[in-house]
Amino acid sequence: MRMTTTIPQIAAERISGRVASAVEEGLASQPKRLPPWLFYDAAGSELFEQITELPEYYLTRTERAILATHADRMIAQAADGRRLRIAELGAGSASKTRLLLAAAARRQGVVVYEPLDVSMSALEVARERIEREIPGVEVAPRLVDYAHELDLEPSDAGERRLVLYIGSSIGNFEPEAAAMLLRRIHASLQPGDGLLLGVDLVKEDSILRAAYDDAAGVTSAFNRNLLTRLNRELGAEFDAETFAHRAVWNAAESRMEMHLESRVAQSVRVAGLGLDVNFRAGERIHTENSYKYWPGQAEAMLGAAGFAPVESWMDAQGWFAVCLGRAE
Ligand code: AVJ
Repeated sequence: MRMTTTIPQIAAERISGRVASAVEEGLASQPKRLPPWLFYDAAGSELFEQITELPEYYLTRTERAILATHADRMIAQAADGRRLRIAELGAGSASKTRLLLAAAARRQGVVVYEPLDVSMSALEVARERIEREIPGVEVAPRLVDYAHELDLEPSDAGERRLVLYIGSSIGNFEPEAAAMLLRRIHASLQPGDGLLLGVDLVKEDSILRAAYDDAAGVTSAFNRNLLTRLNRELGAEFDAETFAHRAVWNAAESRMEMHLESRVAQSVRVAGLGLDVNFRAGERIHTENSYKYWPGQAEAMLGAAGFAPVESWMDAQGWFAVCLGRAE
């Protein structure tokens, strides 16, 4: 006999996995929070790409300008007279990474590029695009979650490895976790290898707040897309329209924060977790921290992780810094 009714399986079984446990833990916390890596499903990654082109979001274009001006010098300093191979935490947002890859290819003809990412599709896109567009670059993708593990094969003798950690991605980590990540990168390198770290700097708070609350509402859509993701992946019933985007400068912690604020008192079913989550009117879910650093702070963080500061570069306004450290 054929079954003709659909069984609501999502309600029947608890969904396991990384997303489920992060959401279960975060929504049970007081105050409620969700980790920022949840932003990056397909729609969220696309929205982030749009953010990088917004007039208010100065980070990407400022860092790109620094790299455009100084790429040859950065590569020469990192190579230290040897051949260089380049690894990157995250599959390169191509336009910035390519400036460095092109500089390395100019210097040594062929350069191996190792993007490290949790997403195989992001790695494949990066490989295809970069090999097609930058002659001399050989892409060797690595599927890893660098927030938890990082083991690079040792670079060959006579070679230097340069790890790129650009885009101020480190700003999503609490200071202790950021320090731990830098130590883990250091542990995966040989003495003489390099780390190029891009960090966003403290500046006037109106500029910071605008960068995380743009007039076109793209950042708001990026923040609220997280709820849409939970609806799809965990059978949740969030009405994203009942949550407001909030971007707050926390001066004491030196970080921009993003929150989702419930406009009304409500209870939201999360079927896949077997949960009903209650919100007071005005209650917030804290979705992201983006730490902003003082001049010299990135160099100090590199130093504490075992890297000797080699050279740092900034834009003329002093808004963003790119720092090269050498593993000792
Ligand atoms: C990709 C983590 C660097 O914190 O500025 C953009 C993410 N959040 N707008 C940042 C983000 C809101 C971005 N990082």
